[in-house]
Parts: sequence; structure tokens; C-alpha cells
Amino acid sequence: MHAPNVNENTVVAHPDLPLLRLEKLHANLQRRSEHFLGYQFNSVFDYSALAPFLNMHLNNLGDPYSSACKTVHTREYEREVLAQFAQLWRAKGRHPLTPESYWGYVLSMGATEGTMFALWNARDYLSGKPLLHQTVWSTGDTPEPVIFCSEDTHYSIAKCASVLNMPTFYDLGSRNFPGLCPVTEDGNWPRAVASQDGVVDPKQLAELVDFFVARGHPPIIVLNIGSTFKGAYDDPQAVWPLLLRVFEKHGLSLGEGGGRQDYWIHVDGALGAGYLPYLELAHEKGLTDERGPLFDFRLPYVSSIVTSSHKWFGAPFPGGVYMSKEKFRLRPPSRPDYIGSPDSTFAGSRNGLSPLILWYALNTAPADVQAHAAARCARLADYAHQRLETVVERIPGFWVERSRRSLAVRFTRPRPRVFSRFGLSGEGTGAHIFTMPHVTRAVIDKLVDALTAPNALSLPKPT
Ligand SMILES: Cc1ncc(COP(=O)(O)O)c(C=O)c1O
Repeated sequence: MHAPNVNENTVVAHPDLPLLRLEKLHANLQRRSEHFLGYQFNSVFDYSALAPFLNMHLNNLGDPYSSACKTVHTREYEREVLAQFAQLWRAKGRHPLTPESYWGYVLSMGATEGTMFALWNARDYLSGKPLLHQTVWSTGDTPEPVIFCSEDTHYSIAKCASVLNMPTFYDLGSRNFPGLCPVTEDGNWPRAVASQDGVVDPKQLAELVDFFVARGHPPIIVLNIGSTFKGAYDDPQAVWPLLLRVFEKHGLSLGEGGGRQDYWIHVDGALGAGYLPYLELAHEKGLTDERGPLFDFRLPYVSSIVTSSHKWFGAPFPGGVYMSKEKFRLRPPSRPDYIGSPDSTFAGSRNGLSPLILWYALNTAPADVQAHAAARCARLADYAHQRLETVVERIPGFWVERSRRSLAVRFTRPRPRVFSRFGLSGEGTGAHIFTMPHVTRAVIDKLVDALTAPNALSLPKPT
């Protein structure tokens, strides 16, 4: 396994290659990761056991469950990873294969790719396109599906909607129903559903959905399980009863008895769909008092879930998992002879190293290790919150906020020197940190010291 994969055609590094530059880059990046607090990436991992795989081309071209395509691939490991995520997200198994069985794949990009795939699938499913397991389908002249998400939603949703040429309720409302928004006094359409402390407002969401469902537009609802800036969790169980009332009022199909349903709920769990299952386990084991909302396939109305592997688990490059159910699968646009597999994923060539990374992470740090890590991160967020509160006491005008159970703590945006030293990210006048597994109390203490040093902040003079 350790023999390098070389022959007379192998390109070897030229002796003049500026390795020194790479060494410098490495040292520089390592220094920066030590104080890296501002994004929801986990940078504590050791995948050096996988180093030999860097010298081969691993390509999981085609469907993870097809064995037809004979590339050098890791599809067997991808399937194991998917089975482990199915357990984590309480999905129905694939043996026997039923309409409720999970189907998914390991992404080559991060959560953005999974959401792009989910919205594409949702649009075509709700528009009556042919399903994989259906020989008769509606030729449907359905009004176009419409997307709903909160103002705390990641910017990738708007991008995916634009790429797929799908309207959000703001687009459709402004275009077809100007001045008729039911939730604003002036009737103008807001760009997104209001949220409180980062959590979508279920009542406003239901009112907006009601407006479009009444006009025949099938709704696609994106819920955040870990919003980008606040790290807040929408609560599917708070949202569903209100949506259900709307659906029943307008006679939408709920998909009972094997029929097609008339709505789609996508869970964007870029970080939270990795973290919350382990926090729940930690709660069961008595390691923490905290647990997040239910978001997974225990809720029969959840249609798809996405997570990024570089966030909770940590990875040297972006990746992730998309998961949905067999019954929602569309007939792929083509079944290219060339690969011998249905073209059922978003990309053509697919990264074969990402499944190995996740497989290694899941198998070297099994669930109880992850539960301890989740409980530690939750405690660290409490610690960071408390330590930053001490800055509020010392510096007039400095503020700190934290959404419920979030790993993000937000505070007054410091001057650029402190901002970049700690790799913070910001929104308007605020900045935040995420207490990911690589973060330590010592770095948080350093941040607090830096924030209280002279000239760290530019605050308005007290009047
Ligand atoms: C809630 C949410 N969704 C989606 C994304 C995009 O994930 P990725 O960068 O892995 O594509 C992020 C990234 O931070 C996020 O926070």
C-alpha cells in the first residue's frame, strides 16, 4: 500500500521546484489556524493515514449504488458513509429497498452542492417530472414552485435559486403580486421570512406559504439547522403544525398512500446536521443539559438534508453529504452508456477522496467520542459567552449576543488588526466566533485580552 504509484512516465518534482515556498506557506497557514475562530470549520484532524491515496486518481463517477462504472473509485466506502449518516439521521434503511429508504451521495463541493441538488430535485418533483420508480407520471401544468427561507439563511440559497432559475417568494411576489404581501403594512414583499434571534418565525412563514399555496404554487421550504452568522436552529416541529394547517386548508397532497406530495422541506444542516445528533447523544449520556431541535428523518415531513463534512467533522477540503428518500428520486436526465450508471448526482466526476475522509472520521472517532466533542464545544460556547460578557462590563458600548444553544458568539466588530489575527468573520457592525473542536479556552482568553487592549475597538464616545 505504501509503494509509490510510479513508472517511467511518472512526473517527478524538478529539483529546482521552490519547495521553500511551500514550507513557508505551510508554516504561515499553520500559524493562522492556531488563532482561527471566525468560521464554522473544524481544523483539528489527522488524515495522514490517507496520504497514500493522494497519489491516485479516485473518481466516484455515477451513482453510489451502481457498480457498473469501473473507474478507480471508493464507492463501497461512500455507501458505508451514507449508511452511517442514515443511522445518524434516523432514515429508513435500503434493505429492503422501499419508497421510504434513504438515498444520497457524498458531495464533491460542500453544502452548497447538496442544496443545489435538493432544490433541483424539489422543483422537478413538484412540477410532475418522471420519477425513477414510477411508470406513469403527471404531465403536469403546475404553477412554478416557490422557495421560502428566513433572513438568516446562507447566501448560497439565493445563488442556487438563481442558477436553477427558481423564484423565491420575494421574486414571485414582486413580479406577479406587487403590493399584496400579507405580512407587511405597505404590501411590499420582504426578501426573506423574518426570524427572531436567528430562528425563522413560524407564523410569518405559514402566512407567506398560505398566500402562494392559495394561488397554486407548491412550496419549497428551506430550514436552517445552524444559520451562518448566528448559528441558530430553526425548529421544524414548531413550523410543521402551522404549515400542515395551510396544506390541509388548500387540499395539498401530503403524499399519503404512495402518491406524490405537494411540498418539499429541505434542511440546510451545513454545521448543525453534523453537530446536533452528537449533542443529542451527549444529552442522553448526561454530558450536557443542551439539545437542539429535532430535524432529521424521524420527522416524516423532512424531504432532504445536507451537511458539510469540513464543518463538524473537519476535512482538508470542502465536502459533504446529501440525503433524501428513494420515493423522491427523479428519472435522471440520461443514462450514459459511457459510464454505464444512471447520471443521478450533480457532478459528473466525483471526488473519491471525500468519502474516505468521512469514513475515516466516522470510524476513528465513533459516536461516543463525537458526543464528548459536542458537549465540550457547547461548554466552550458558554465559556466564550461569559468571558466576552466581562468585556461588556469593562468597555461601555461593547455588546455580546448568543442565540439559544448556538456555537456562535457575536460581539462588537473589532478593528482590522484583531479581526484578522483571530480570523473572525463579520456582518455589519458585528463579528462572531464559532467554538469548533479545535478552539481552546486559551485562544478565547487571548481574544478577550486583545479586545480589551488599547485601540482594539472603535466605539462611539459615550455621551
Ligand atoms: C447554513 C449554511 N448553509 C450553507 C453553507 C454553505 O456551505 P459550503 O460552504 O460547505 O458549501 C454554509 C456555510 O457556512 C452555511 O453556514
